[in-house]
Amino acid sequence: MKLGIVGTAERRVLSAAALLVAAAFSTGCDPAEARVHSGETLFLNNCAPCHGAQGEGIAVAKAPAIGGLPEWYAKHQVEGFRDGLRGTHFDDIQGMRMRPMALTLVSDDEVAKVSAYVATLPRTNPAAQLQGGNAEAGAGYYGTCAACHGADGMGNEALGAPPLVGASDWYLRDQLEKFQTGVRGAHPKDSRGAQMAPMAKTLPDGQAIKDVLAHVATLGKK
Ligand code: HEC
Ligand code: HEC
Repeated sequence: MKLGIVGTAERRVLSAAALLVAAAFSTGCDPAEARVHSGETLFLNNCAPCHGAQGEGIAVAKAPAIGGLPEWYAKHQVEGFRDGLRGTHFDDIQGMRMRPMALTLVSDDEVAKVSAYVATLPRTNPAAQLQGGNAEAGAGYYGTCAACHGADGMGNEALGAPPLVGASDWYLRDQLEKFQTGVRGAHPKDSRGAQMAPMAKTLPDGQAIKDVLAHVATLGKK
């Protein structure tokens, strides 16, 4: 663009923009970074007490590892808890612990910020706690799961299916049981949970759940 043909009003806008850019550089902080920074404060105050400072999860609090979850999935879950799609079933003791925490975030902007921060944390791959799973048998069951969660267990955003690799195994087991019994995924507005619930029912019993999760654990080691 030739500056000679820029009008006075446009020039004012240009110099205002230049000032903003200069201000951003002088604080060493661009707007995207600022968004993540205050997400950190929110996370440390409102989430870390249960999920751990790195989002590594605290098993005794039944709070799963959430560090490194993709931003879209973390956001969708926090919104689900906040809006009552998840964590309102009478038998969902853990979900009812999480729900009021989602409500401590006062705006969509705070939900977005904290979700962005969660996504910057490393996936912590907590040590396996479940015992007696047969990964080979689990590979057979996992054929169904791979369609949405991926053969590598890394999830698929377009389908709304989260990564399973790197999660707390006890938490995944609890979720599969909740999907089987209608404690999760049965709310009329929970369209993604409604896709998952029938899939959990393809696992015939508790042993099958342990088997499929033993297979998921091998994916994390590849
Ligand atoms: C009082 C303890 C507690 C606090 C504080 C807490 N959570 Fe949770 N959170 C939980 C529990 C327990 C669960 C598991 C719920 C279940 O089993 O269904 C959970 C589940 C989640 C999940 C779902 C993970 C998944 O894989 O689907 C996300 C995301 C999450 N919490 C994010 C947050 C964020 C963000 C904050 C801070 C705003 C937060 N939590 C604060 C206890 C807590
Ligand atoms: C048709 C697609 C589809 C298939 C097939 C599928 N899932 Fe899912 N799964 C989903 C979606 C979508 C979600 C997210 C639900 C939500 O947003 O609450 C999910 C969520 C989950 C969760 C909860 C994860 C968390 O972090 O809370 C587990 C565990 C899970 N799936 C395991 C499995 C297993 C094991 C199988 C195979 C038996 C399977 N899924 C098959 C779509 C699928």
